[in-house]
Amino acid sequence: MLQLTILNDTQTLRVSVQPGQPLGDVLHAHVPAFAMPCAGNHTCGKCRVQVSGPVSFMTESERKLLGDDAGDGVRLACFCRVEGDVTVTLQSGGSAKILSWYRTPEVKPDRSGYGFAVDIGTTTVAMQLIHRPSGRVVAERLAENAQRGFGADVISRIEACRGAGLATLSDRIAAQLEDMAAQCLAESGVSEVEESVVTGNSTMLHIYEGLDPASLAVVPFAMQSYFGGFSRRTLAGKPVYLPRCVGAYVGADITCALLAAGHGSQETQLLADIGTNGEIALTRNGTLTCCSTAAGPAFEGAGLSRGMSAGTGAICAVAEESGQVRYETVGNAPAIGVCGSGILDALAVMLATEAMDDSGYIEEDEAWPIGESGVSVTQRDVRQIQLAKSAICGGILTLLEDQALDAAAIDRFIIAGGFGSSMDLDSAAAIGLFPAALRQKADFIGNGALGGAVMLLRSSALREKSARMAAEATELSLSASPAFMDHYIDCMTFDRF
Ligand code: FES
Repeated sequence: MLQLTILNDTQTLRVSVQPGQPLGDVLHAHVPAFAMPCAGNHTCGKCRVQVSGPVSFMTESERKLLGDDAGDGVRLACFCRVEGDVTVTLQSGGSAKILSWYRTPEVKPDRSGYGFAVDIGTTTVAMQLIHRPSGRVVAERLAENAQRGFGADVISRIEACRGAGLATLSDRIAAQLEDMAAQCLAESGVSEVEESVVTGNSTMLHIYEGLDPASLAVVPFAMQSYFGGFSRRTLAGKPVYLPRCVGAYVGADITCALLAAGHGSQETQLLADIGTNGEIALTRNGTLTCCSTAAGPAFEGAGLSRGMSAGTGAICAVAEESGQVRYETVGNAPAIGVCGSGILDALAVMLATEAMDDSGYIEEDEAWPIGESGVSVTQRDVRQIQLAKSAICGGILTLLEDQALDAAAIDRFIIAGGFGSSMDLDSAAAIGLFPAALRQKADFIGNGALGGAVMLLRSSALREKSARMAAEATELSLSASPAFMDHYIDCMTFDRF
């Protein structure tokens, strides 16, 4: 697999591609709003991008379409094949926004009309208005979860249900979805939808549905409902389907991500959705075993001395060249902080340059400056990342051990979620976020939860399949696992696993 980095004014996206894959196909799949007016038929000359890295040679017909613009890395995406690790910059302007991207297998649609696919993330809510027969994204919205004022993670939301009241949190998210849906309808001119699919982790679905999530926070982590049917709520006046959860900490978002990852293939697959919670699912010989591990918000920039989300001015990439530390920021703006992908790169550079030892100790001073950015990585920041990456890698190793498997036996390592899609795989492997043997098998699918929700929106046959898959899955509890504790402690160092 090769790595393609897609840049626009404000965002960075890294995706895995096959050697020789047409750049236009990749952009079409991952950046829904990327304009290809002639649908890649080599006639309009509008799919211009700036490319750096190994790609196929320019043909005469491409040169003619580009005219005076040919040269300096300007290419037409539909002509260009990826032949190595490549960076592609989208032209500025609103036509190529990366809001929510994902990759899914082909779906045989059996539903008509329009519908909303929604992923209620603990941090972010993503919504797409979909034309169900074609799968076309007609409009979309991405917003911070309106419950964020009640806490950053699921445990604080559960506590807030006791304090501020379940109805307050429940109505707040429901109102936010109605508001986002109204905006999508107004923008698209679509007058009505037939139904919607709303996915999310188990806590988010409990709260949306108005079910008390308190039992999810205490042993034995009992569910009020596993869902897998229609909600008591409507969205834009029409029914809402809620996909089935596996358990308290492996929710419907993972059921959906597994669908998007192509669950059911003969491959031995390991899926990791890396966020505040890291959900990990292993598919092997038709069986599914899942676990969840609390990584904390460090990968989202929270809890770090200069941490921030991947907004304008966030350091999103760091590298060392000839003794110089270089960095990139979102939107090429002056650096004001560092986001998850940037801190991962920074730690990988610190390790490679021996500014930090294998234990995470910063050798010289208490902080390591990221080039001339004015932003530094502190000793405490390193410790936060150590805790987060140990939780993820420890979870992966525990799940593999439970199934008597070695990392080398995994055919495909699927990484889902927004943070996972923006990180550099080499940096992630260098700091031990996952076993090094998985590096070459890694495959990004983007927001798999939303992608799976779209699949369920378009196909009712898939709803049965996904509900069965979730009902038959085994959830491995890490909180009571001595093996997890051992791996967690081992993973705390920056040795490769
Ligand atoms: S999409 Fe028209 S030339 Fe590429």
